Amino acid sequence: MLKSKDLLGLLHTDGQEITEILDKAAELKVFLCGGKKCADSLKGRTLITLFYENSTRTRTSFELAGKYLGANEVNISASSSSVQKGETLIDTGKTLDAMKIDYIAMRHPMSGAPYLLARNVKASVLNAGDGMNEHPTQALLDMFTLREHFGTLSGLKVAILGDIKHSRVAKSNLFGLTKLGAEVWLYSPATLMPKDIDKLGAHVARSMEEAIDGAHGVMGLRIQLERQQGGLFPSLSEYSRFYGVKDSMLKYAAKDAIVLHPGPVNRGIELTPTLIDGETSRIEEQVTNGVAVRMAILTLLNEYRENNL
Ligand code: CP
Repeated sequence: MLKSKDLLGLLHTDGQEITEILDKAAELKVFLCGGKKCADSLKGRTLITLFYENSTRTRTSFELAGKYLGANEVNISASSSSVQKGETLIDTGKTLDAMKIDYIAMRHPMSGAPYLLARNVKASVLNAGDGMNEHPTQALLDMFTLREHFGTLSGLKVAILGDIKHSRVAKSNLFGLTKLGAEVWLYSPATLMPKDIDKLGAHVARSMEEAIDGAHGVMGLRIQLERQQGGLFPSLSEYSRFYGVKDSMLKYAAKDAIVLHPGPVNRGIELTPTLIDGETSRIEEQVTNGVAVRMAILTLLNEYRENNL
């Protein structure tokens, strides 16, 4: 049983809850890949996707996860909502709540926005990415993909490479993976490494070789130009030359290592096209697993709501 009506981040989600989500996702992946996708476990429930930033994977997979389980689903994009007329986030949330909805999956450019919303609505709030803070459902699907391949997360080494500083995916993975016994190694230009991240349990590598050495998961991250002030590295071509992951780097990884990327990927910048499309890549599987993980979270939050609210 989850311990809260919301899923806001993995910092405050314990290992038992994470394992429960991954186990439920494994069950629901069988349903997802089994042909017709029409269950009624969430019939009569309503999911709103409220996105103040662009998204392909997260928004669509939340929408499909709800629909496959029988929920009603409505999408609101900030550009066409009353946010444009000056409505606050809290007023938007209260307005949606008054329509007797059950879930709000929200992406917002400000760190902490889902926490503010969750305190002000009866609906369950699911953080679909808040600024540079967390992206818990992405990390859960990354963890699911690793666990599916290796059977466990305990004892794994996961190398996360690239723009760590602006990455909510890196932070959620760090919190989640370490809770389930994996080691997380980070590598980036010094200007893109958050200060004191080692105090949160990360290993900061001095070279890409050190980060990837013996790693089971090799995860590239997107360069988040939209969150940068500029001047953090000389040019994209130099970044790609010195910090992009090349095929030859995989020789340092564990022999059954897999390549991951949360997407969207800048081909040839963070990872070579051959790594993205190669045999070791699990990038498409991550997308499939994203639907299973989001179905699992909606299911478990529904159980929480039925038992506690
Ligand atoms: N990984 C991820 O969050 O992708 P989207 O921005 O397409 O949702």
